[in-house]
Amino acid sequence: MTQTATEPQHQTFPPPADLAAGAVATADLYEEAATDRLAFWGRQANELLTWDTAPTQVLDWSDAPFAKWFADGKLNAAANCVDRHVAAGNGNRVAFHWVGEPGDTVTVTYADLHAQVQRAANALSDLGVRTGDRVAIYLPMIPEAVVAMLACARLGAPHSVVFSGFSAQALRDRVDDAQAVAVITADGGYRRGEPAPLKPAVDAALETKDGVESTVKAVLVVQRTKGEVAWTQGRDHWWHEALAAAAPTHEPVSVEAEHPLFVLYTSGSTGKPKGILHTTGGYLTQAAYTHRNVFDLHPETDVYWCGADIGWVTGHTYIVYGPLLNGATSVMYEGTPNTPTQDRWWQIVETYGVTKLYTAPTTIRTFMKWGEELVSGHDLSSLKVLGSVGEPINPEAWTWYRRVIGGDRTPVVDTWWQTETGGIMISALPGVTTLKPGSAQVPLPGISVEVVDDEGRVLPAGHEGAGYLVLTEPWPGMLRGIWGDDERYRDTYWSRFRDQGWYFAGDGARRDADGDVWLLGRVDDVMNVSGHRISTTEVESALVSHSSVAEAAVVGASDPTTGQGIVAFVILRESAHGADPASIGQELRNHVAREISPIAKPRQVFVVSELPKTRSGKIMRRLLRDVAEDRQVGDVTTLADSSVMASIQAGMSAGK
Ligand code: WT7
Repeated sequence: MTQTATEPQHQTFPPPADLAAGAVATADLYEEAATDRLAFWGRQANELLTWDTAPTQVLDWSDAPFAKWFADGKLNAAANCVDRHVAAGNGNRVAFHWVGEPGDTVTVTYADLHAQVQRAANALSDLGVRTGDRVAIYLPMIPEAVVAMLACARLGAPHSVVFSGFSAQALRDRVDDAQAVAVITADGGYRRGEPAPLKPAVDAALETKDGVESTVKAVLVVQRTKGEVAWTQGRDHWWHEALAAAAPTHEPVSVEAEHPLFVLYTSGSTGKPKGILHTTGGYLTQAAYTHRNVFDLHPETDVYWCGADIGWVTGHTYIVYGPLLNGATSVMYEGTPNTPTQDRWWQIVETYGVTKLYTAPTTIRTFMKWGEELVSGHDLSSLKVLGSVGEPINPEAWTWYRRVIGGDRTPVVDTWWQTETGGIMISALPGVTTLKPGSAQVPLPGISVEVVDDEGRVLPAGHEGAGYLVLTEPWPGMLRGIWGDDERYRDTYWSRFRDQGWYFAGDGARRDADGDVWLLGRVDDVMNVSGHRISTTEVESALVSHSSVAEAAVVGASDPTTGQGIVAFVILRESAHGADPASIGQELRNHVAREISPIAKPRQVFVVSELPKTRSGKIMRRLLRDVAEDRQVGDVTTLADSSVMASIQAGMSAGK
C-alpha cells in the first residue's frame, strides 16, 4: 500500500524498492552538486561525453548573459552519438526499432547509423554544405530524420529542424531567418492512414518571393510515400541516390564546445518566431545527464520510447541526442496514436517490451477519453518509468497514467523544461524522490530554481506561495542566444529580473510547504495547445492577413484535453459584413491552419463588432479569456469603453 491519502493531489508515492536499489541516480547526486556545482558539471561533461580535447574550463560567465561552457574542449556530436558506441563493440545494438504508420518496420543498429550518417555527411558535403552552414530539415518521423540531424552535426553544420506540420510560409520564414543553404525533406509521410505530401510545401517555400531568392541551393528528398513530386533540376536530389553515390567513410569534424549544434524556432510573445541557438558541449552534457538520470537508463536492457516529434525540442533532446549519447535502444513511431486503431501505442509497447515511456499530458488525457479497455488488453508489464512533458499535468491524469499504463507500479516523472533550456530542469528522480501527482517537484542536481514575487523576492521557505519561476544560475544546456538577435535575447529572458541576473522562464509557479514546485502555466502571451507553444500574436497576424478580417484578438482558453484551446475574436471588414458567421468562422480556422499549421487552428472564432481595449489601445486579453472560459467578466474599469464587454457577450449569446 503506497497511497497515503485519497485525493489524487494529496497522495504520495515513494520509489519502488527494486528500482531504487538498482537506480543510476542516488541522493548523493544532490549533495555532490550542492557542494561544488561547477565541479559537478565538469565531471558530468567528462564522464558522459568523449572529447577530442578534454575541457579544463567549466563555465565562463564573464559576458553574461552569453555563457560559454567547457570552452576549451573539442568534440563532435555525431561521433559521440554513434562512432564511439561502434568502437566500443556495440555496433550490433539496436538504436531504433522504427515503426511506420502503415505497419512497416525498420531495425536500425548503431552500425547502421554509423554507415548512413557517414554517407549522408559526404552527400551534404558534395552538395556544397560546409562547417557552419545552416541546413533546414523538414521531415516526417522516419529514421532518415535522425540520420540527417547527425550528418549535419558530423559536419559542424547547424541544423534547423522545422516541424513537418508547419506550412510552406512558416518553413520559408525559418529558412530565411537562418539563411539555410540546403533543405532535407521527403516526398511525404504517413499521417492518419494516408500519405501526406511534403515536397510541394518545400517547392512553394523556396519560390522567389517579391524578387527575393531563397538562400537554399540544394534540396535532398527522401523517398517515403513514393508519391509523384515536382522536380527542380540542379537543385533537387534524391536522398537514396546521393547517399549511394557518396563515399562510405567520413571523418567527423572536431568542433569547439561552443560551436553551434542547432537552431530551433519557437514562439515568443510577438509574431516572429525566435531561433533558439544551442551549442555543442554544454547541450550534449545536459542531454546525456538528464536522459540517463531522469529515466534511470540502463542501456543494455532498456527499451525507451519518446512519443514526441523531432520537430520539437523534446524530439531533439529525448529522441535523438540524449538516447544516442547514452547508447540506448529506442522505439520511434511515425504516425498518430489512433491509426489504425486507438490501441496502437499499447501494441507497440507490448511488441518491443518498452521499459521507459515519455509523452505529453494531452496525449494521456486523450487516452483517458478513449477508455481503459483499450489498454487492459495489452501486457504493459515491461514498463518501469513513465515521463510527462510539455504542460502542467493535472493530478487526475497523473494518477491515471500511473495506474492504467504503469500498472499501479511505475513512477511518473513530470519534467519541466523549455526549448530554451535544452534539457530537463525540474523533475523527480525515479529512484530517489517520493512523488506528488501534479507537481514537477525539484530542480535536478546542478540546476538552480526559485519562485519569486513581482519584485524578485524569493518566496520564504517552508510556506506556500505563488509567483514566477526563475533560473538563478546558468546551466550547460542553456540557449546561447536568439539567432541573429542578441537584443531580443537579453530583453526576453534577462530584463525582467536584470538586477538579480536571473533567467525569466515566462511561467507562473507555486511552491508548497515542502519546497516542491507546481507549474501554473505561462504568464505571457504564449498559449500552450497540446504541449505546443503558440503565440497569440502569431495567430492574430494570420487572421488579419485574411481579406475579410479587420482586427483580431486571440486567447488561450482552458481545454479539458489540449490544456488550452485557441479562441479568436474577429472584427470583419466592411466588405464581409453580412457574411454567415459559421462559414466565415470555418474559413478563418482553415486559413490559420494554412498560414501557420493545423496545430494553430482556432477552436472557436467569434465575430464581434468591437474588442476590449485600454485607453492606450492595448487589447485586454484577460477579459476575452473570461468570456472564452464562460466566467463572469472581471474588472472592466481600465477599458476605454466599458460597454464593449457587454456588447461582445450579447453578440456571442445571440450567435449560440
Ligand atoms: C513551455 C515550454 C519542454 C519541452 C516541450 C515544450 C510548458 C513544459 C512543462 C511541465 C508545466 C510545462 C511551460 C514552458 N511546460 N513542460 N512539465 N509542466 N509546464 O517546450 O515548446 O519550449 O514550451 O512549456 O510553459 O515554458 P516549449
